[in-house]
Amino acid sequence: SKPIVFMSSPLFPEARELLAEHFTLHIGAGSNSAENQRQLQQQTDAVAAIITLSDRYDQKAIAALPSSLRALATYSVGTDHIDLAAAQARNLVVLSTPDVLTESCADTALLLMLGAARRAWEGLKLVKGGQWTGWAPDQLLGKDVWGQRLGIFGMGRIGQAIARRARGFGMQLHYHNRRQLPAAKEQGAHYHHTLAELAAQSDFFCIACPPSAATRGIISSDILQMLPPGAVVVNIARGDMVDDPALLAALKNGKVAAAGLDVFAGEPAVHPDWKTLDNVFTLPHLGSATLATRLSMAALLRDGLLTVLAETRPK
Ligand code: GLV
Ligand code: GLV
Repeated sequence: SKPIVFMSSPLFPEARELLAEHFTLHIGAGSNSAENQRQLQQQTDAVAAIITLSDRYDQKAIAALPSSLRALATYSVGTDHIDLAAAQARNLVVLSTPDVLTESCADTALLLMLGAARRAWEGLKLVKGGQWTGWAPDQLLGKDVWGQRLGIFGMGRIGQAIARRARGFGMQLHYHNRRQLPAAKEQGAHYHHTLAELAAQSDFFCIACPPSAATRGIISSDILQMLPPGAVVVNIARGDMVDDPALLAALKNGKVAAAGLDVFAGEPAVHPDWKTLDNVFTLPHLGSATLATRLSMAALLRDGLLTVLAETRPK
């Protein structure tokens, strides 16, 4: 018989079928993370669990996992919702979905840059709201994207994929990363040793670094103050990296011209100002949301779980 795998989310039919070929799926019926955690605790014959970024596995939740569990697979590239040290201490293999979502997420970053800079939301409202009275020389004048300086915070797989696209827009590339990349990966991007130095050179400032406890609030008021006047801020990483009141203040006083946000602190609850400010272009955490990519993510977890379960001792 197939190994039992608990899934906190039913995903969607095609992804589920791909997993059901190899595993007996026990799908959580919980509507929230806590309920699903309680259900998983009772799955004493489950060898693995597939969770999403809406499930939080801190030290306590990991300690309560059934002893049969050998792998915790998250249907996301980010692992900031999992206490990795606690998982390791318990000999639990943690799987996530890097690489397969890189290009889709980079596409989303460009969508946010263009949408925010070119005031796509306001334009959309005008047309769909039936309030458009005709072409006008001064209508919704935005900021150019092409030729501008793009600062990328986090030059990992996704940051590099954004850089490749931005070169096609003739942007000048700048980045900050824990370490400087070799020239081949830098793609002519200028390295800055500190986030503040990067901010000072960023007409467009794109947050693309892996989320962790260390990145919470890292885009502080001090960092935002370093941006050139009228900069555009884009976040495709995690909402909690940004000091929301500081970014809101900068958007209201014009220091930051516009923001493109795919992620929000405390999502899906959203600060009321993100809903009302016209210069904030929002998406509901759609970074990797294409059918092809979401299928690839399921296939990657399937392959990873098969590897882990085939080994007598997990790596
Ligand atoms: C999305 O945010 C992910 O971590 O995959
Ligand atoms: C715009 O449509 C133009 O023709 O300039």
